[in-house]
Amino acid sequence: MKSEKMKKVSVIGAGHMGHGIAEVALLSDYFVSLCDINEDIVAKGKAMIDWSLKKFVEKSKITEKRYKKLLTNLETTIDLERAAENTILCIEAVPERLELKKDIFRKLDTFSPKHAILASNTSTMSITEIGDATQRPDKVVGLHFPPPAVLAQVIEIVRGDKTSESTIKFAIDFTERAGKVPIISKDSPGFICNRIMAPSMLLIQLMLDRKEYTPAKIDAAALNMGMIMGPYELLDYIGLDVVYDSSKYYAERLSVDYSPSQTISKLVEKNKLGRKTGEGIYKWLPGGKRPIIDLSDPADFDLMDLMRVQINEAVKVLEEGIATVQDIDIGMKLHYHNPWGPFELVENMNLGELSRFLDNLAETYGKEVFRPHKWIQDKTLPERIKV
Ligand SMILES: NC(=O)c1ccc[n+]([C@@H]2O[C@H](COP(=O)([O-])OP(=O)(O)OC[C@H]3O[C@@H](n4cnc5c(N)ncnc54)[C@H](O)[C@@H]3O)[C@@H](O)[C@H]2O)c1
Repeated sequence: MKSEKMKKVSVIGAGHMGHGIAEVALLSDYFVSLCDINEDIVAKGKAMIDWSLKKFVEKSKITEKRYKKLLTNLETTIDLERAAENTILCIEAVPERLELKKDIFRKLDTFSPKHAILASNTSTMSITEIGDATQRPDKVVGLHFPPPAVLAQVIEIVRGDKTSESTIKFAIDFTERAGKVPIISKDSPGFICNRIMAPSMLLIQLMLDRKEYTPAKIDAAALNMGMIMGPYELLDYIGLDVVYDSSKYYAERLSVDYSPSQTISKLVEKNKLGRKTGEGIYKWLPGGKRPIIDLSDPADFDLMDLMRVQINEAVKVLEEGIATVQDIDIGMKLHYHNPWGPFELVENMNLGELSRFLDNLAETYGKEVFRPHKWIQDKTLPERIKV
């Protein structure tokens, strides 16, 4: 039962991201309404929150008393109108399909109080277009949490063309109250972190299509290098349907080079979506436990190649005015756990070699998206890149 003083946050979609976002809001002392399309899904979402909060108790991060109290601050519902009533913030986390998101926002605009902020956890899609489905585009914002939301250190706040300064301030306050670092992005496909990751994700998918390496050997090389998850395991962890939908969106909005890869398309057709269905690129262990990867036999592949591709995209993101050097570096370190930000890395790189490497990649795979940015080609990176 919601106490009079507690403010309410509504989370729409109780899947991989939604239940974690609901837990973040609970831990920030909001009353939370978690909504999905059927009782089984919301019950599963609630059970996941319960499991995760119990882990916090085991690790002495919260007391047993607080755990019990937090659960009383959570309601689940399959009624969107009920979820949205008396709320100050709705966060949408439904599948990555623009028409579905617009439809939800139209309804949230009708059902929620006029002052409520409407946020989307979309990984790639236009906050401006989602906002235009409502009568309050100034109160629509992106709140992009990395998975798992509860452990995320950073939230990417996406400013749509009509998002007001007070909405951005609200989003920053929400992020800081959750104990996370805010970074700000202009509205553009994939925003900061996913846009910079996109061409390196494309590269590993092309390598998969060509069967150049086995996924486990690449992932072993990544784990041996100190990454917390290899790139193929990450695809499975994100969800191959999310990867597929995002690729289609990038192909439409950025470049056809991003069209979904054959291997991913086939797996999605067979509903082998990764961790969430128990099988994708890998077979996952019961309870969503990570696949066991043999670290003794890594591929002879230089993981820095993925970073080189990311640097090139980061330069494009900077030139397009999507984010600052600082937010790009913070985002890539905190969202994707890269040991270095792209601009920290580029400082010590030979730009001639980087340019030749990227040209070679563009030729090898026939993808212009890998071509070096003119600032790299001409060795004219601006002074502000110096961090
Ligand atoms: N998976 C990731 O790693 C990740 C990371 C950051 C952002 N995102 C974004 O978060 C969003 C959700 O992704 P996910 O991985 O949680 O997907 P998911 O498939 O795990 O969960 C989506 C949930 O939305 C529910 N849903 C569908 N239609 C609905 C409706 N009309 N009303 C209420 N609920 C509805 C589904 O039943 C499902 O439970 C996407 O926009 C995705 O791009 C995903």
